[in-house]
This record gives sequence, C-alpha cells and structure tokens, in this order.
Amino acid sequence: MADSQHPLDAERIEKVFLIITAVMLLTFLGALFYSAFGMGMHLPDREEQIDVREVRDTPPFDEPGVRQVGDNEYEVVLLGYAWAFQPREIRVPAGAKVTFIATTTDVIHGVHIEGTRMNFMLIPGQVARVEGTFREPGEHLMICHEYCGAGHHIMYGRVIVE
Ligand code: CUA
Repeated sequence: MADSQHPLDAERIEKVFLIITAVMLLTFLGALFYSAFGMGMHLPDREEQIDVREVRDTPPFDEPGVRQVGDNEYEVVLLGYAWAFQPREIRVPAGAKVTFIATTTDVIHGVHIEGTRMNFMLIPGQVARVEGTFREPGEHLMICHEYCGAGHHIMYGRVIVE
C-alpha cells in the first residue's frame, strides 16, 4: 500500500515545484518590468554621449564641481576616474533639487550615495544624469560600487548636506 503511493507522491511534489518555479519566474519578470517601465530605471540614455578621451575638455566636465542653477536648484558635475571622484566633497543645502551630471574618464565606475536611493553607473562615453533631493542635513559617504581595479576600495567621496 505504502509502496504503491510513492510514484503519486513524487508526481505531486514535482507539480508543486513546477508551480513554485513558475510563480518565481513570473514574480521576477514582473519586478523587472516594474523597475524598467514603472520606476523608469535604465542605463544612461544613448543620446547623451561623450568622447571618453576628451572628457576633461568637454563642458561641463572641464569644470567639475557644484553650482547653483536656480532658486533652490543645484547641479553637480561629477567625474569618476581610477580611483577617485572629482569633486571629492560635494556640499548642497537640504531640500534643494540636485542634479548629478556625471561620467568617467576611463573605465566603468559606480556611484552609490549611502543612506539614499541614489545609485548610478558611470559608463565610458556616456553621461549619467540623476536628480534627487537630500531632505535632512548630514553627511553621506559616496562610494564606487563597480569593481574598477586595484584602488576600487579607496574610491570614495562625501556629500555634505547643510
Ligand atoms: Cu571606481 Cu570601483
């Protein structure tokens, strides 16, 4: 009796696993579509390209830094290179609209600003443009999150919200 039930049990278990697999696949696909189309996450736009050999001579990257561009609006022109960010220290007021315009002069780097949802990649030949607002005054570590060689772990900067 017990023996004759074994094949049935195996089939049932197999079915359960197939269903679990299908549900997981659909969940992940759903999450992918939601992040791509619902939240608008994507790689830097194709239109904003730059000659990676000429970055330091191409505006606005010939003058990296923070500048005020409106009433409560700031622009941060940011360069990443092996193995530092320029500028290393970014100061912006709390509550201001801040637009990061960033690229790399060499290999792929990443930018993650700790304690925020700001996270983007610096891809050779492309310009990343990311908007955000820092609500609370404080200090955030800005780290490279894309392995970029021997000095990857020392590639960091600071965002100081005043
Ligand atoms: Cu730059 Cu890791």
